[in-house]
Amino acid sequence: MRLAKYIADSGLASRRRAEQLIADGVVAVNDVTVLEVGFNVDPQHDQISVNGKAIRPMTKVYLLLNKPGGYLSSVGDPHGRPTVVDLVRDIKVRLYPVGRLDLDTEGLLIMSNDGDFMNLMIHPRYHIPKTYQAWVKGRIGNKELKLLCQGIQLEDGITAPAQAELLQVHPDRALVEIVLYEGRKRQVKRMLKAIGHPVLALKRTAFGFLTLHGVAPGKYRHLSTTEIERLIFLARGS
Ligand code: URA
Repeated sequence: MRLAKYIADSGLASRRRAEQLIADGVVAVNDVTVLEVGFNVDPQHDQISVNGKAIRPMTKVYLLLNKPGGYLSSVGDPHGRPTVVDLVRDIKVRLYPVGRLDLDTEGLLIMSNDGDFMNLMIHPRYHIPKTYQAWVKGRIGNKELKLLCQGIQLEDGITAPAQAELLQVHPDRALVEIVLYEGRKRQVKRMLKAIGHPVLALKRTAFGFLTLHGVAPGKYRHLSTTEIERLIFLARGS
C-alpha cells in the first residue's frame, strides 16, 4: 500500500496533504525517514510515524442512517442547526454523509469514513439506483409518469431514464415512487415541479438493494461486510 494512502487512511490528513508531509521529511517507516512520495509500505509489519508519533489505519465504518427531516446532510453548520453527524455521535470516529439529502428530506443515508468507498457511491459514472417516495401536489397521471421515466428537461440538462410508479392517488395529492440512476442536486423535487406537481414531502426508501427495514427514524445500523461488497460490486457494475 502507498505510504500516502496509509497516512490518509489513518485520518490524519488527505492523500495530497500526506504526500506533502512525506516531501517535508516528517514521515518515517520503521524509524527511517522516507522522502519518496510513491513509497510502498506493508501495513501488517511496518511501523509508520509522523512527526515522531506512531499512526495506525483508522477503522472503517459504514452506517445506514434513517435521516429524519430537519437534519442537514453535512458535518457542521455555521448556523448551529442539527446535522446528521449529531445522530451518530456515539460512534467515535469522524463520519461523513455519502451524498446529500435535503434538510426536509427523510430516509436512507449512508455514512462512512472510507473516502474511496464514498467516491464510488456518489461518482456520476457509477449508477446505484436510488428509490424515493414523494407526496406531490395535485393528481398526477400516466402521462406525467411517462415524462418522468423518459427524461425531464432541467436547467442542468435532461434527466436520465428513470422509473416511476403511482402508489396512492387522492383528489388533491398523490404518492409517487421514483427510481433514479443519477444524483443531481434536488433532482426529485425539480423533476416533479417541472411537470407541475410540486413535492410536499420526500423520503428516500432505498439505496441499491438497501432499504430502511428495521431502522427507525433517527436510528442507524452498521452495514455488513457482504452489503459493503455488494454495493461496491453494484457501483462498478462488475
Ligand atoms: N432529490 C431531491 O429533490 N431531494 C433530495 O433530498 C434527494 C433527491
